[in-house]
Amino acid sequence: MTNSYRPIIWKNNKLLLLDQRLLPHSETFVEVSDLKGCALAITDMVVRGAPCIGFTAIFGMALWVKNQTQLTLEQCRLACDEMISARPTAVNLSYEVNRCFEFMKTLLLSDHSKEKIFQALVDFGNEQILQSHAKNLSMAKIGVEELIKNLGDRKWNLMTHCNTGFLACGSLGTALGVISHAHSLGKVEHVYADETRPYLQGTRLTAFELSKENIPYSIVVEGAASFLLSHGKVDAIFVGADRIAANGDTANKVGTSTLSIVAKHYKVPFYVVAPISSFDLSIPSGEHIEIEMRPMNEITELKGIKLAPTGAQSINPSFDVTDHQFITGIICEKGLIDPSKVGELVRVVNS
Ligand code: MRU
Repeated sequence: MTNSYRPIIWKNNKLLLLDQRLLPHSETFVEVSDLKGCALAITDMVVRGAPCIGFTAIFGMALWVKNQTQLTLEQCRLACDEMISARPTAVNLSYEVNRCFEFMKTLLLSDHSKEKIFQALVDFGNEQILQSHAKNLSMAKIGVEELIKNLGDRKWNLMTHCNTGFLACGSLGTALGVISHAHSLGKVEHVYADETRPYLQGTRLTAFELSKENIPYSIVVEGAASFLLSHGKVDAIFVGADRIAANGDTANKVGTSTLSIVAKHYKVPFYVVAPISSFDLSIPSGEHIEIEMRPMNEITELKGIKLAPTGAQSINPSFDVTDHQFITGIICEKGLIDPSKVGELVRVVNS
């Protein structure tokens, strides 16, 4: 998949976001012209997926600069913090916004105009989206090489959880990028896409991406993992990440941890694929990751239709943390990391 399908477009000094809440049946763009609009689009999941949240936030900071009459460093920090608070789990958000802050600081301290800072941030945002293709492609190549090495040069049955294609990660995608690249080489027999309860990213978004690329797939409920893996239907599993701690513990969409445990039980290789912007070396392990709790009605209702009895309670953690011991390998743009080797992740990220 190339850059032809873009969920984030900067045009005429406005940000256009493909409204992912309406996919797959309506491809509608919403226009955003200020920081609050960007933050809300992230909170409400108009745009979602760790890398795309980060890209959107960069443009949000650019729009904020554009809308100021004058700039101080203190205001810049407050605006950055407001943007970072839009969603807590994906580290890409704070990673990109803090990079924006460093930009703003350097340019402000050297007396650059507001217009210059605005343009620098816009260029930075566009550059990150462009670079995502090359990074995702190198991860995809590493993933395919690993499969050839371990499973042989044949067609594979692959499984994925949540959404990690171009809608979430820029061109190609991360975990889905490996699958997409393998398909382009004629190496995919079938893909099993988890439906991803309760928000249905797999059913709505991953299936949309797989269809666009004519990759053969079936949507499965998360509870089917044990059935599929015990019957030898899946050769390998690829998932993305929202935050990876220094020891390799990985926060990803809720259900990922369960899948990893089932995979280990049935000896199915389980890979995490994520760019370095999803790594958080400031935390030693996954217990330090804040897990976003989303509204109860995402579980008890579907598009406004009540599924549960009136007044039913639900608990909706949007992510969980997969223990590094259940991960076969973590693939980033710098290479393949074996999470069982202590210190390996930090070494590769800093290399
Ligand atoms: O809540 P979302 O839709 O923003 O979830 C993020 C994800 O798509 C997944 O957790 C994904 O596997 C990692 S981000 C590419």
